[in-house]
Amino acid sequence: MRVITNILFSLLIFLVACKQEVTKDVERGTIAMNGAVSSAHPLASQIGVDILRKGGNAYDAGVAVQFALAVAYPRAGNIGGGGFAVIRTSEGEVNTLDFREKAPLAAHEKMYLDEKDQPIKNLSVKGHLAVGVPGSVAGMVTLHEKYGRLPFKVLLKPAIELAENGVVLTDAEAKTINRYHDLFREVNPQGFVFTTKDVWEQGDHVTYPALAKTLKLIQENGRDGFYKGKTAEGIVGEMKQGGGIITLEDLEKYEAVWRKPLKSSFRVYNIISMGPPSSGGVALLQLLEGWEQLSNPKWKHNSTESIHLMTELERRVYADRATFMGDADFVDIPITHLLDSSYLENRFASISNEKATDSQIIKAGEVERIESYETTHFSIVDKEGNALSITTTLNGNFGSKVFVKEGGFFLNNEMDDFSIKPGVPNQFGLVGGKANAISPEKRMLSSMTPTIVEKGDDLFMVVGTPGGSTIITSVFQTILNVTDFGMTMQEAVNAPKLHSQWLPDKIVYEKGKMKRVVLDELKAMGHVLDSTTQIGRMDCILRLEDGSLEGASDRTRSDGVALGY
Ligand code: DON
Repeated sequence: MRVITNILFSLLIFLVACKQEVTKDVERGTIAMNGAVSSAHPLASQIGVDILRKGGNAYDAGVAVQFALAVAYPRAGNIGGGGFAVIRTSEGEVNTLDFREKAPLAAHEKMYLDEKDQPIKNLSVKGHLAVGVPGSVAGMVTLHEKYGRLPFKVLLKPAIELAENGVVLTDAEAKTINRYHDLFREVNPQGFVFTTKDVWEQGDHVTYPALAKTLKLIQENGRDGFYKGKTAEGIVGEMKQGGGIITLEDLEKYEAVWRKPLKSSFRVYNIISMGPPSSGGVALLQLLEGWEQLSNPKWKHNSTESIHLMTELERRVYADRATFMGDADFVDIPITHLLDSSYLENRFASISNEKATDSQIIKAGEVERIESYETTHFSIVDKEGNALSITTTLNGNFGSKVFVKEGGFFLNNEMDDFSIKPGVPNQFGLVGGKANAISPEKRMLSSMTPTIVEKGDDLFMVVGTPGGSTIITSVFQTILNVTDFGMTMQEAVNAPKLHSQWLPDKIVYEKGKMKRVVLDELKAMGHVLDSTTQIGRMDCILRLEDGSLEGASDRTRSDGVALGY
């Protein structure tokens, strides 16, 4: 009897030990029963949760978070930029909203080239000519009109209060502002809030009275508060004095557009993502299809085999991106063909398991800032299961650096996302051709990939990140981390990421986070390796089996936070 008792006791200890082991090894994000918001700034996440608690749905919270980020996270949060929203309602309706910037009416194909047809350095990146017609305010008004529940005015209130009462800078934010000090002065000789001090420090308190006034105009007048009247005149005045080309007509004509979502299956999941003018959805679906066709379930996360296959898929997918992708309102994009599984089977048939393929030799120039994080993404799920995935940007940090002083906000430098000359890389090293050439009122190609994943008929995951060209590959890896490598949402967000994009022909990995033996094996296969400080800053939400939500923000790479209730 005693022996049996001892055996049972040992068994019990063993089981408890196993359970603790599992619990100890698993890292979860914020667990919430009713609703969750994951964003790049704690104040914005808190504002989103407050709106959900007040009975707002995910779309109300999204509008409030977008405007809050415009105040609290001015390097990327914006009213002077644009973005994309992917929507899945609790009834399973899916939709996507395009509020991407547009080229002004006076834009033309060679506007960034000199008389010898050579790109003029920085003209598409810095200053007034780099600015596309902003889309964010039209986007939020349009999103709210179709899906919002609380009055629009209520959703603007927290951002207005934030602008009036001020925001305390984190260390990272103060350093980021300081880094751009000279550029701010160069582009804005008349000065503005960030040039009132030479060195900003953690804990400094910044108020934005001019921005508060603009937000009030939007609160009162909806889109007219931005695209007409005082705000529009402020933008056009700034353009005139700085040599920009955006007119009142450009602003008045801007519309956000509902577009058919891209939807495709991957294993037992459905992926819902953004179509053109973002390349993100097409590229992501191509990558997942290739992975489903060619991967092996025995492969471990970030093993030589899995990184090799990812890189080979990415090489081919980014080459397709450069050739075919642009604004579908202007060019025919063979989307059905690009996503056809037999096309992809053929496309990927040349992948060898042993050797890296040479990327086509095109002079791709140097990638200036592959590790920069100037876009921002947020994910929201409410208690009914409505889901929202928004990626929004000024493109570069603080966009073009042009600050509309009267209005209190930065303008984007999204024009650099056009192909300013075939084969000439943009700031993310991306090349393009005719399909993404500049044309009046055309939208520039994007890599932003806000995405929602269903499992069967149910909501499963909401994902997205900043990162320029690395957005697509970070979203790809984060989805696989959960679906194929068994990670929690937080682990998938934290996991070391890699990136490759056809040209420049190399695999970029996060320094100090990869196994040396794997890097050596990849090198032996013919891959060129390069390191960077960070890839991806995901803000995601996973719906767990018991219906609760796991919000995960990238605490290891950013100040972001996921909150819920
Ligand atoms: O639309 C795009 O693809 C780029 N303008 C995004 C820029 C970006 O993500 C910058 N930083 N992380």
